[in-house]
Amino acid sequence: MRCLSALGLLALVSSASTSYLRTRNHETHDYYAIHLDSSVPLAQVAASLGLEYEGPLGELPGHHIFSSTRHEGDVVQEMRKRRRRRGVGGQADTDALDSILFSQKQKTKARMQKRAFVQEYGRQGPPPSPPSSTDGVAVDATIAKQQEIARALDIQDPIFSEQWHLFNPVQYGHDVNVSGVWMQGVTGNGSTVAIVDDGLDMYSEDLKNNYFAEGSYDFNDKVPEPKPVLSDDRHGTRCAGEVAAVRNNVCGVGVAYDSKVAGIRILSAAITDADEAIAMNYAFQKNQIYSCSWGPPDDGQAMDAPGILIKRAMLNGVQNGRDGKGSIFVFASGNGALRGDNCNFDGYTNSIYSITIGAIDRQGLGPSYSERCCAQMVVTYSSGSGDAIHTTDVGSNVCSSTHGGTSAAAPLAAGIYALVLSVRPDLSWRDLQYLTHQTAVPVNIEDGSWQPTWVGKNYSHKFGYGKLDSYAIVEAAKTFKSVKPQAWYYSPWLHVNHHIPEGNQGLVSGIEITEEDLKQANLERLEHVTVTMNVAHARRGDLSVDLISPNGVKSFLSETRFNDDSTLGYKDWTFMSVTHWGESGVGNWTVIVKDTVVNDLNGTLINWKLNLWGECIDPDKAALLPMPTEYDDDDNGDVPPVGTTAMVETTTIEVTSAPAGTATVPTDHIDRPVNSKPTATLSDEPTASASPTSTATSSDENLLPSFFPTFGVSKRTQIWIYGSLVIVIIFCAGLGTYFYLARRKRLQKNSLDAYEFEVLDDQEDLEDATGDTGARGAAAGKRRRRAGELYDAFASGDSDEDVFSGDEGADEKAYRDAADEEAEEYGEPSGEKDPSNEAEARERLLGRR
Ligand SMILES: *[C@@H]1O[C@H](CO)[C@@H](O)[C@H](O)[C@H]1NC(C)=O
Ligand SMILES: *[C@@H]1O[C@H](CO)[C@@H](O)[C@H](O)[C@H]1NC(C)=O
Ligand SMILES: *[C@@H]1O[C@H](CO)[C@@H](O)[C@H](O)[C@H]1NC(C)=O
Ligand SMILES: *[C@@H]1O[C@H](CO)[C@@H](O)[C@H](O)[C@H]1NC(C)=O
Ligand SMILES: *[C@@H]1O[C@H](CO)[C@@H](O)[C@H](O)[C@H]1NC(C)=O
Repeated sequence: MRCLSALGLLALVSSASTSYLRTRNHETHDYYAIHLDSSVPLAQVAASLGLEYEGPLGELPGHHIFSSTRHEGDVVQEMRKRRRRRGVGGQADTDALDSILFSQKQKTKARMQKRAFVQEYGRQGPPPSPPSSTDGVAVDATIAKQQEIARALDIQDPIFSEQWHLFNPVQYGHDVNVSGVWMQGVTGNGSTVAIVDDGLDMYSEDLKNNYFAEGSYDFNDKVPEPKPVLSDDRHGTRCAGEVAAVRNNVCGVGVAYDSKVAGIRILSAAITDADEAIAMNYAFQKNQIYSCSWGPPDDGQAMDAPGILIKRAMLNGVQNGRDGKGSIFVFASGNGALRGDNCNFDGYTNSIYSITIGAIDRQGLGPSYSERCCAQMVVTYSSGSGDAIHTTDVGSNVCSSTHGGTSAAAPLAAGIYALVLSVRPDLSWRDLQYLTHQTAVPVNIEDGSWQPTWVGKNYSHKFGYGKLDSYAIVEAAKTFKSVKPQAWYYSPWLHVNHHIPEGNQGLVSGIEITEEDLKQANLERLEHVTVTMNVAHARRGDLSVDLISPNGVKSFLSETRFNDDSTLGYKDWTFMSVTHWGESGVGNWTVIVKDTVVNDLNGTLINWKLNLWGECIDPDKAALLPMPTEYDDDDNGDVPPVGTTAMVETTTIEVTSAPAGTATVPTDHIDRPVNSKPTATLSDEPTASASPTSTATSSDENLLPSFFPTFGVSKRTQIWIYGSLVIVIIFCAGLGTYFYLARRKRLQKNSLDAYEFEVLDDQEDLEDATGDTGARGAAAGKRRRRAGELYDAFASGDSDEDVFSGDEGADEKAYRDAADEEAEEYGEPSGEKDPSNEAEARERLLGRR
């Protein structure tokens, strides 16, 4: 103890940049993350609380870490409670307690899971040899072109010819289109990417010269070098190779082979939110891009968002990283598509501060693992169609030819952003998102997943705005004019409290946003749209949520998830969409919550709110978003939300499937428009002059011929109700067409599959075998067919156990992780797990995913 005090003092006097990297021992100590208002010296806070000062919490202003010996309960909260009741000790102690803005006892949480997806080839050796021509281009000619590029750039790396994602001589055009960028001398010089992962082999001959030690740290072992230690610590090294493998005579090259790459090791042991928050801001003036190929389990059940400290770190990253231009966070969308997972159920991928990257394969097809969602911005290349990404591996001269999953797509995107920043280091985090949106190239445009957006782009929940094109984005970056600062509009909470009808009808709720609202909010045009909602439901996986913009552009915020049996519903969950990029935001926004699985498990839409994010009108009036608090999403009704102007009407109706002419919606199905927010609470705001539109007008005017019910509401509301009906009918018709097309496609695919399963070594066969190599034959054929079905949007309600017969190892592991988390929640010492068993189990997991 005394020894620790001495250490603590040492830490206090030593420089801030190293003090927060002290070793933690969760066996013997508790750690507290505390946000202070700085009115009281740290030493006094420590003395009053009876805690050791450990150091600042990374780069988060005012946040610190304190420790005590291990203790039941939360000593800081207990003292704060006592202080509130009757005061504690002397004035100094009272002051110390009063200076606490936020305190959280840290616990180690379940590890984030890597998003690797290793292809099982079922035989040794490289993928099938290329056909003699593809797309009418002779392969001889394209191979010659590849050799010419290598010669021109003096690339002598032995596996460059296998790095089809950089130049694809077989499926010509299915690559990141980078050679033209390299030819201009743009190879990533001056850029730095941090690989937040399980380590990085800085002694690999292929990485050594590009390794950035200053930006690197091992948060698992608390040492400066994030060296791979466990037998499966290969993921981060493989990702690093994709970004910055050196142009030399070892393996291949990175897409930005003259950029620097740092390693931040967090995935090889459980860590606390505080340490993860430090990691996400680590060396954030020098690390420009953070590549993250991990997240909550992709099991189709998890619905997890980063904790408040990590949320603050990400906001701090975009506000203060890179000298205020903002850290670039790149996330892998997830590999759970076959398990019905969707990247809007992952709070990292659906953050507005991250760019979410999905996968396409070397034939340009959407791989069956890659998750869809409207928070996905773009896709880039990874495993599928019988091949994977060829990159560097752990060891001085070891290469990998099996790197895959969305894990392999995200670093490729990070590397492309390194090229962009090497040309335009002055671009902001939002500029990069604009460039991504602007230059993405649509793929598989005929597959039925695309819809036009308001600004003349096409968007697909499967492929985002399309695939990244290195040449296109670098060219556009050269002359890109930085966008104005961010602004936002927060709607008030809209209280619905209405039963959600079973079936495809859905519960419709809307809000009108006026030009004046957005003017008051200083918001010119949209980038991200977020919807936060509370839904009670006996089976969460039955729910789906659509958002329709005033221009009729649709976001499928949530889709049914056949694996998700949770009874918790959506609790203050925030969904995000990039589909409305460029819209004005003015007009009626509609949310449709459906309980598409007809059973006796039902639910209620409690409330929701709409937040619009985008470019401001007047930069002089722009402000930085305040740090999030734990209470941001509380619906306490008396705090006017920041940036909110006036309340407008909301109406909910239940859409019945009865023919339009005879539609009689029982009045008990109509919620009167709710306008619960007292005007008075808004009157402090300069914007309050835009007074709320009252919706409780007494009017018996009939808008339509008398056989249409008026619902006892105003003409205006009737328009809204009938308007919603029309929207829903049009939408359902669209959905029907989509289903029909999807089904036709599926049937075609099925007949193909049925044929193919006899040809075991066929490339297609390899692609779809997600599970164990032994389980082939009829079962494999069936599995493949079922997998094809699952791939359809909206497919749901089937019982799919047999689909995953080869995948038990992975599921089991996911459950095990959940059990670990529970054990930790109950304060059990997390214990030193046998590393070899652990590694073995994870090896198995990675092998199967
Ligand atoms: C790919 O790069 C070439 C130059 O190497 C360029 O001509 C072409 O337009 C690029 N493709 C796209 C889609 O921009
Ligand atoms: C990278 O840029 C620096 C300075 O801007 C320069 O000195 C160096 O030669 C460049 N390296 C390469 C490989 O172009
Ligand atoms: C969007 O896709 C449609 C086909 O679905 C196509 O006709 C149209 O040209 C595309 N628009 C753009 C901007 O690519
Ligand atoms: C489900 O429906 C029953 C009967 O209509 C109702 O009592 C119950 O409250 C509903 N559950 C939810 C979560 O809305
Ligand atoms: C929104 O709906 C209301 C009906 O409740 C209608 O009066 C209003 O004109 C609509 N606004 C827009 C911009 O379409």
